[in-house]
Amino acid sequence: MTGSNPRAPMHQPDGRSLSQRRAPKGLVTVTGGAGFLGSHLVERLLQSGCSVHVVDDLSSGSLENLDAVRGDPRLSITVGSVAEPAIAARAADAAMVFHLAGMVGVQRLAQRPLDVMRGNLLCTEAMLDAAARSGAPILIASSSEVYGDARAPFDETDPVQPGSTDNLRGGYACAKAMGEWLAHAHARQGTLRVVVARLFNVVGPRQSGAYGMVLPRFVAQAREGNPITVFGDGTQTRCFAAADEVALALCDLLATPDAIGGTFNVGSDREVRVLELAHLVKRIARSSSEVTLIPHDRVFPKGFVDPQRRVPRLDRLRACIGWAPSRPIEAIVEELCAAPQSAAVQRALAARALS
Ligand SMILES: NC(=O)c1ccc[n+]([C@@H]2O[C@H](COP(=O)([O-])OP(=O)(O)OC[C@H]3O[C@@H](n4cnc5c(N)ncnc54)[C@H](O)[C@@H]3O)[C@@H](O)[C@H]2O)c1
Repeated sequence: MTGSNPRAPMHQPDGRSLSQRRAPKGLVTVTGGAGFLGSHLVERLLQSGCSVHVVDDLSSGSLENLDAVRGDPRLSITVGSVAEPAIAARAADAAMVFHLAGMVGVQRLAQRPLDVMRGNLLCTEAMLDAAARSGAPILIASSSEVYGDARAPFDETDPVQPGSTDNLRGGYACAKAMGEWLAHAHARQGTLRVVVARLFNVVGPRQSGAYGMVLPRFVAQAREGNPITVFGDGTQTRCFAAADEVALALCDLLATPDAIGGTFNVGSDREVRVLELAHLVKRIARSSSEVTLIPHDRVFPKGFVDPQRRVPRLDRLRACIGWAPSRPIEAIVEELCAAPQSAAVQRALAARALS
């Protein structure tokens, strides 16, 4: 592991998180709520006492991700794409909206760049238009990808750097960045109350490794006794935060008046070298798998840049909601190795193996 930062307490001095003290009231919409992070957010919102409307086209998500809460009468689900204005309008008819719907994963971007770029841009544009009309405050999930290969650690005031248009990876970054610009433009030109959350690597149970997410892929490979494949030389670093903690931060952000209109890095700032992560997974999973290096150009298309470091500055987030991730990567990996692999994740991995 490289670098370390002081762990700030995740909870406020009175022992309760902001979201417990300012629990959202009424109906809350989560777009992409059947996805990995969305399903953790749905669980969190239901725990805090509100009703939740999930809107998801199930393109990568699954209703099985909501198994733990499917019987809750406060949960309603609409299956459809929020890129369609009528569905976006129904989604925005709520006390507040978390817009997490999107197409993620570097491998999916490498294989279906047009779908990924269009999908992310169109659904964010439609949800912002709909929230502007309904008056619901909205949080949109952006990505650390907007920083491109800028020098880490990344500050929210840094320029976005999607890079050359020859590098398709920048297309996802650009779609996310354009979503942010549209959000701020809505706020400036109208009255939209919007928060932008730039998420760094979020990990936890129910995440699929099928689309290029490194940690669930390592865990699946270790479990199956297959080689744990590290792309490049493994010296690149990433920072991982637990999904349930990130869900709490998203709730707190949208419930905090000072956060409205702001852009926030959300994630962990503790760097881990990817090669070390592979060995950590192997050790914790007690796996006999070998750790293998795969040259970058055998995995990604030409010109597809993989940033060496991706580290957020979290000062703004800490100052606004007093949040910082508390769980170290070792505990996260232990939890992942102990959790049964969900049927949805198994199917996604099997489909990927066949493609
Ligand atoms: N997980 C991370 O590390 C990470 C990092 C950066 C940004 N993000 C952002 O967070 C959000 C959630 O990511 P995730 O990891 O949970 O991914 P995910 O693929 O598990 O979830 C995305 C969900 O959105 C749904 N969806 C896609 N297009 C849709 C559409 N047009 N209409 C309705 N539903 C649609 C999918 O079916 C899926 O359930 C995404 O916007 C992603 O860009 C995640």
